[in-house]
Amino acid sequence: MLDTMTVRKMPFEFPDEIEPDFMDGDHERSFSFIAGSLLLPHLEPYLIRSMRAAEKHVTDPVVLEGLKKFASQEGQHYQMHKKFNDTIRLDGFPELELLEKELSDDYHRFTKTKSLRFNLAYAEGFEALTMNAVKNMMEPNGFGEDLPVFLQMVEWHFVEELEHRTVAFDVYDHVCGGYLYRLFVGIWAQWHFTNWIRRVKNYMLKVRPQPDAGLKDVPAETMSVFAQPTSATSLMPGLLRIYLPNYTPHDVEISAGIQTLADKYSKMASEFNT
Ligand SMILES: [Fe+2]
Ligand SMILES: [Fe+2]
Repeated sequence: MLDTMTVRKMPFEFPDEIEPDFMDGDHERSFSFIAGSLLLPHLEPYLIRSMRAAEKHVTDPVVLEGLKKFASQEGQHYQMHKKFNDTIRLDGFPELELLEKELSDDYHRFTKTKSLRFNLAYAEGFEALTMNAVKNMMEPNGFGEDLPVFLQMVEWHFVEELEHRTVAFDVYDHVCGGYLYRLFVGIWAQWHFTNWIRRVKNYMLKVRPQPDAGLKDVPAETMSVFAQPTSATSLMPGLLRIYLPNYTPHDVEISAGIQTLADKYSKMASEFNT
């Protein structure tokens, strides 16, 4: 299931000014979401740069086609997240600029000074972890009906993450290869970007602490997806799998309901673009 990649240009529009505690006043979840969204316009262009650098070394036409579609999908993702990020009122959080600059500097430094092997292993470390998190949050049928637009954005993005789940692995394997190197750089990469997300969230919480009574009368549709933190026990079996020597994302099963969502977002994109 879900064995094709489609590049979709989505029609999502966001309100003019989104309050930073937009998830029903829950600062913790809102700021986690914002931190993840702030990461992507830095991380995803870095992934694209790494893929572009790998392109000339790829001799397999199937891997090459995957690489190009991966880059196009990630290009759409970060532009949409940037559009979302630009509408959040973050004027009370002056240190975010410094945190973003630090992250951006890191990724540009990696592109300039690290080996292609490192950059491709970083890409796969990110893709493998997010694929598992996405499967955990979305399967079997996505987030539900009548989603607010920011959750539709996430659902579309996550569907495409599942669509291109094998690409970074295949490009690394094809161009460089090596399990132990991928393992160690991948684990470091996962620490690198999750640590940045954590720092951003913690900073935002320091500026605007979680209100004690913030979660009363929470509308179900907004909170359902993020109502429970992804538990370590539900994430763990899939997560451990990505560290094993025989792991390949080609063996990962995707539920049929995700194809239904992929079709839904393809239709939405084609209606928008015609
Ligand atoms: Fe993405
Ligand atoms: Fe991705």
